[in-house]
Amino acid sequence: MYCTQKIKEDVFYVGASDRRLALFENIYPIPRGVSYNSYLIMDEKTILLDTCDKSVGTQFLENIDYVLQGRALDYLVVNHMEPDHCALMPEIVLRHPNVKIIGNAKTFAMIKQFFNFEIEERAIIVKEGDTLSTGRHTFHFVMAPMVHWPEVMVTYDSTDKYLYAADAFGTFGALDGNIFADEVNFERDWLDDARRYYTNIVGKYGPSVQTLLKKASTLEIDAICPLHGPIWRQSCGWFIEKYQRWSTYTPEDKAVAIVYGSIYGNTENAANILANKLAEKGVKGIRVYDASTTHTSVIVSEAFRCSHLVFASSTYNAGIFPPVETALLDLKAHNMQKRKVVLLQNGSWVATSGAQMQKLIEEMKDMTILSPQLSIKSALKEEQLSELEEISSLIASDLS
Ligand code: FEO
Repeated sequence: MYCTQKIKEDVFYVGASDRRLALFENIYPIPRGVSYNSYLIMDEKTILLDTCDKSVGTQFLENIDYVLQGRALDYLVVNHMEPDHCALMPEIVLRHPNVKIIGNAKTFAMIKQFFNFEIEERAIIVKEGDTLSTGRHTFHFVMAPMVHWPEVMVTYDSTDKYLYAADAFGTFGALDGNIFADEVNFERDWLDDARRYYTNIVGKYGPSVQTLLKKASTLEIDAICPLHGPIWRQSCGWFIEKYQRWSTYTPEDKAVAIVYGSIYGNTENAANILANKLAEKGVKGIRVYDASTTHTSVIVSEAFRCSHLVFASSTYNAGIFPPVETALLDLKAHNMQKRKVVLLQNGSWVATSGAQMQKLIEEMKDMTILSPQLSIKSALKEEQLSELEEISSLIASDLS
């Protein structure tokens, strides 16, 4: 049975949510599910903005049939070719053989890579600034390469002042009937997932997001319609400001996250004592993460949020304890920069994890490694508490 919502007048939400998928992109845990958004506009000509993941194909196709009420689909805009949005294109072409498909040159190269259906006869190739009128609406095509993939574009409807934003402004999380951000407590219930989505999916491409934000700043925007998560029709500026920070690698909060890798609990003990000492000095909102049990996507997200990061690692196979090393490599892959970092190492015979963590961090841009660092042999000793005291004072004064 169809499950759609009218957004306004002739604009309909025809996407769907998946609460069964465990790993988005087969890598990111999504305990709250994910939505695949698609928008159908019933103008003089009908136009669909993106399709959905095949996992919600039945629901999506029923939604399209219901809203179309027997009319043919005239246009399909392909803002993004990742399969979570384009997988159902062949189904659309089968059902609407006369549909024209709108994309840029890179879009069509990818369509040919992914699919075998005839594309040349139905392709409308657009470039920056091209427009399409469907009657009441005029759509403007704005290129947004690397806001996640090279073919990405966004579509601005200058009639409604709606920005169909592709992956930008998306978030993990299924939609529970409330498809608008103003109908949920976004800051309380969604922001962490929105940050984890942004930082892990698009975080590497901050300069490309900056380019898109600059283009968007020239548009009058009444609503942002992303491909995942709630639609923004109020307080768009609040979310844009988050994107401004994340895409410039500016810490969102003056805060500290401690990430530790500990085999028998001794490195963990040092991390906990540091957290206590920070709290005693008035630092609030301290977060401590066991790298062995915390998904790397959470650590990446928290590193984008916090101004100060502590990495504490046992030495393992003469190197960094693998879960911490994985987190650091992932931070480097996501272009992490502009953070203050403290390192704690542990080693029962030769402690090498500190120097190796330092090397990885120095390969990132504009990272400041604070000193002193702490080096423990097997377990923290009473006489070393003063060193943790000094480190906590340093972080606390830097945060204030
Ligand atoms: Fe939601 Fe880059 O796809």
